[in-house]
Amino acid sequence: MKKLLDRNESTPVKMKKSILAYALAGALVFSASPFALPVAEAGTATAANNAAQDQKIVKRVEAERAIEHVRYLSEEIGSRPGGLEGEKEAADYVARNLKSYGYDVEYQYFPVADQYIADVAFEDGTSWEMGAAPNGKVSKEAVSGEAIYVAGGLKAADFPADTKGKIVLLTREASTAAYRTQVDNAIQAGAAGVILQSVVGSRGNYGSTFSPSLTKSYDVPVYGAAYVQGEWLKERIEKGAAALDLTAVRYTDLQSVNVIGTKKAKTKTADTKEVLLTAHMDSVVGAPGANDNASGVGLMLELARVYKGYNTDKDLKFIAFGSEERGLLGARYYVDQLSQPERDEIEAVFNPDMVATKYEPAKNLYAMTVDGSKNIVTDSTVAAGARLGNSDILPGQFGSSDHVPFHNAGIPAALFIWMGIDSWDPLVYHIEKVYHTPEDTIEDNISGERMQSALEIIGAGLFDVIRKDVPEKNK
Ligand code: BES
Ligand code: ZN
Repeated sequence: MKKLLDRNESTPVKMKKSILAYALAGALVFSASPFALPVAEAGTATAANNAAQDQKIVKRVEAERAIEHVRYLSEEIGSRPGGLEGEKEAADYVARNLKSYGYDVEYQYFPVADQYIADVAFEDGTSWEMGAAPNGKVSKEAVSGEAIYVAGGLKAADFPADTKGKIVLLTREASTAAYRTQVDNAIQAGAAGVILQSVVGSRGNYGSTFSPSLTKSYDVPVYGAAYVQGEWLKERIEKGAAALDLTAVRYTDLQSVNVIGTKKAKTKTADTKEVLLTAHMDSVVGAPGANDNASGVGLMLELARVYKGYNTDKDLKFIAFGSEERGLLGARYYVDQLSQPERDEIEAVFNPDMVATKYEPAKNLYAMTVDGSKNIVTDSTVAAGARLGNSDILPGQFGSSDHVPFHNAGIPAALFIWMGIDSWDPLVYHIEKVYHTPEDTIEDNISGERMQSALEIIGAGLFDVIRKDVPEKNK
């Protein structure tokens, strides 16, 4: 795979004003009350015992095993868009593994909106997944043609005389109104198909695939390509190897799914609490989602393997959520169907999402809460890091993952993610460029060391929460 050279690999991302206010609140929380570490009096029985308990986990977790799960999910299955077959295969994979460790496993289905998926196939057998415009031609009957690249496209004059019958690749204009003009002009010029190359991601990442939103209907396929797919297509056009078959499918009546594995507390009382370890298993269209978020699922399964050997004083649930990328749908559905007493039982939600990037500037593992306040999830993992002498973990503030619906229901939750943060006010951060793209692969985006560090910190922090005795009522 050719590396992309035309962007500064470590350009930090500045957030928009609306998000800034949010970030500022978090910055104040952390600067006003620096994270207090628990008193781990050296030499006391408690400190020695905590350290011994940590070692039960740290000695056993193996990044290679977690990455083997990442390999299955991102390579054997590939992309896993919410509601489609790839996500279902991921669910079955998670269920198989959890069952093999002896846990009870349930599936929880929920309905999701239609997907419009395009397939762009080359004569050499390669094919790429893109988003299809619902208002363009969506058909299994192939539209075939030679691809050409047209610069611009906002003016009819941009299209060469031989556009007729060609599949036109255009660099997507930023606004929806402007790219609609590009599509209209291409089709007026006789294009047999249109591919829009997305160039910027919302977080400084490379552009992802998308389903173009059109107001007019056309009998021509119109697809949204990831930035790197556009670059690859340009290379093929230059080599004269760009004869394409375009097909697309509208998938309807979709069901997405959550997979729930349960480890019961050793002795159950009326006060027994529940702790959740959750990770979304879906990916965006066209992306193998190795770091986002096969990494979180791999970490969850590896901790499930290690925890099976220990009794705990709390119920522990391992949940692989579906359709996170479509709006946190699996986690929202899960929280919505819980009664208030069931919500009250949940003491903590640990949600790893992007826990193994090898992007160098993403140098800390953040435990992010939605409002920047500390809770049992951030406290237990920061304390575990301190006991282990591991300084990777830091608290922070971020939404955008499955911890949000839990937070909104008043349940303590945090997202674990590797990032580099230069400033909280304004929020200036580094995340890998390849997330949400076809290059979110093990080769391009996974670090064994980062996975190991996340396994040890989250593994020891969570174990500390579940092994502690439940305090007695009215004490
Ligand atoms: N793993 C990301 C969230 C993320 C990415 C957080 C980069 C911080 C930095 C997650 O899978 C994601 O993409 N979330 C969506 C949520 C949306 C669909 C509600 C997002 O942020 O676009
Ligand atoms: Zn994502």
